[in-house]
Formats: sequence, structure tokens, C-alpha cells
Amino acid sequence: MKVLVTGGTNGMGKGVAKILASKDDGAHEIIILCRSKERGESTIKELAAITNNNKISIVLCDLTKLSDVRNAIKEIHNNHDFLDGIFINAGLGYAAKRVETEDGMDPHFQVNYLSQFMLTLNLLDLLENSKTGGRVIFNVTKRGEIFWDDIQMKNNWGFEKGVFQGMAAKRMFYILLHDLYRRKEGSRVSVFGFQIPKTVWSNQINIIPFFMRTMATMMKIFGGFISIEKCGMIMAPLFTEDQKESLKRSGKLITQKKNEFIEMKEDDTVLDPKLQEKLWKISLDLCNDEETVQIAKRYLEI
Ligand SMILES: NC(=O)c1ccc[n+]([C@@H]2O[C@H](COP(=O)([O-])OP(=O)(O)OC[C@H]3O[C@@H](n4cnc5c(N)ncnc54)[C@H](OP(=O)(O)O)[C@@H]3O)[C@@H](O)[C@H]2O)c1
Repeated sequence: MKVLVTGGTNGMGKGVAKILASKDDGAHEIIILCRSKERGESTIKELAAITNNNKISIVLCDLTKLSDVRNAIKEIHNNHDFLDGIFINAGLGYAAKRVETEDGMDPHFQVNYLSQFMLTLNLLDLLENSKTGGRVIFNVTKRGEIFWDDIQMKNNWGFEKGVFQGMAAKRMFYILLHDLYRRKEGSRVSVFGFQIPKTVWSNQINIIPFFMRTMATMMKIFGGFISIEKCGMIMAPLFTEDQKESLKRSGKLITQKKNEFIEMKEDDTVLDPKLQEKLWKISLDLCNDEETVQIAKRYLEI
């Protein structure tokens, strides 16, 4: 499998990249989309040394910049004619204040959702070229709402609200994308969300304030966290399982319980097709990118 992992230099993305790279005697190719060349190259070195896999590469992209997303899409198309999977994972977590992106957006909305909405739409052709049938797995949590009157959170900002608005947006996006794919004859691409059943001890621990770190350390002692490797072991099979199984999960929110993947009940607002289409339209306008608009039109004319 050839899998693109966004945010593979730390946390859950790194855990999944690590386990995928070591799985099946290094048969899988991993492309890490990351914002730092230095962290990207040191991740390749680290994973290659542990796994003996020499098919790990990076694509540079700062998700706070839509121009970077456009360049990354071009670079991926120049170097690859198919992708078997994408892990939509990169995310901004804790932030002390709202630092607007150079595109004038809320950073959580742009990094966690909008840039990856644009990335996904522009890479669907490569997934459709996959021999096994492409799949996109979104790292999500069943929380959050869209602040329709203040989507950029100028008036009522909080980092958790931003993280969870991104979660709701990602879930609405993949459900609509799944529905659009089902209308297309012969479609083999699966798109679904996965909620990790336990909190992952990620790089966030180094970013959060002291009092939060102290609380987290206490929780860790009582088994409140899992490692990034454990997270990778839980999630990696979703990238390598037979496409028939993956298609059964498409459009759903999946988690793991007692070593089984199970479906979670989704919120009514997230399931509302009118709201999904409203968000799709807002997202296209915000991407302000003609190629993305043309791709989107092939799937849904609004
Ligand atoms: N940890 C959990 O328990 C948990 C649970 C459910 C969902 N999640 C979600 O999982 C995702 C990963 O979180 P994590 O806990 O693993 O956090 P993390 O360790 O901080 O990893 C975040 C990853 O995203 C990348 N990233 C952040 N901003 C970026 C940008 N502007 N452009 C490109 N890449 C960027 C980071 O790159 P750098 O290495 O350069 O910082 C890093 O690779 C997030 O979407 C989070 O909301 C986490």
C-alpha cells in the first residue's frame, strides 16, 4: 500500500506511519506530509532505522497556507500516479491565542479541516487510480459543532472549540463525499472517520501549559493514555485490510472496542445533507482555487 499521512512527524500520525512502515516486511510505502523539513527528514531517518523500510518520503506543506497546499498537490501529482490511502490526521491542538493564518482564517479551521478538504479533493484522482481501491481515513472525535455565524471564530474563540469545530467539519465532509461516491457507478473509494478509543500521549504534552501537563502526567500513571505505537497498532490494519471491508465502513464513524472495529452513532446535525452541502459550498469559496472548484463540480454541482 502507498499511504500519505498528514502530520506524520509527531503523535498519532507518526505512530501510524511507524507501524505501517514495519508491517508486512516493509512492503508499504509512506509519504509524510509535514511543515518542517528538519522534522520530516529526522522522522524518515528514525523510522527507516527501526523498520528497515526505505520507502518513506516527505512532502513539505504548512497547512496554514493554501498556497502550500496547492504546491504539495502539484508535487504529489508529479511524483505519484496513484495512492492507496490517505490518513487525514494533521492537526493543531492546544493554542494560547487565536493567530489568524496568512489566508485570514482561524488556524484550527484551516489546518485541521479546510486545507485537508482541499488536499483530499485534489488527490481523489490518485486514489481512484489505486489497484486495490483507494481509502481516506479521517482522524476524528465525535464532538463539536459548526459556528455558522462565526466560522472563523473571531468573536468567540477557544482552542477546544476550534479543535472540535474541525472535527464536526471533517465528519460532515467525509459523509457527503461517501454519498457522492455511492452515486458514481463502479466507485471503489472508501472514506470514513476513526475515533481512537483512548487518549494518545502525543507531542501535545510538550505544548500544553504546566498545569495541564501535570494533570495529564497523573492520568498517565493511572493508565489514561496509550502510546503512539499502540495507536499505530490499532489503526494500521484499517489501511491494509481488504477493500471490501473498507467499503463496508465507508461513510461511517468507526471506533475500536474489545479489539473489534465498531460503528458509532453519528449526531443528527452532522448527518443533515443540507448542512453538509452548505459547508461544502462555504469550503469551496474559502479555498478560492479554480482547480478545486472544477474537481468539486465533477462530484456535486451546487
Ligand atoms: N492525541 C489524542 O488523543 C487525539 C485523540 C483524538 C484525535 N486527535 C487528533 O489527532 C490529530 C493529531 O494529534 P496528536 O495528538 O497526534 O498531536 P501532535 O502530536 O501535536 O501531532 C500533530 C501533527 O500535526 C502536524 N501539524 C500541526 N500543524 C501543522 C501545520 N500547520 N501544517 C502541517 N502539519 C501540521 C504536526 O507537525 P509538527 O511535528 O511539525 O508539529 C504533527 O505532525 C489531531 O487532529 C488531533 O485533534 C488526537
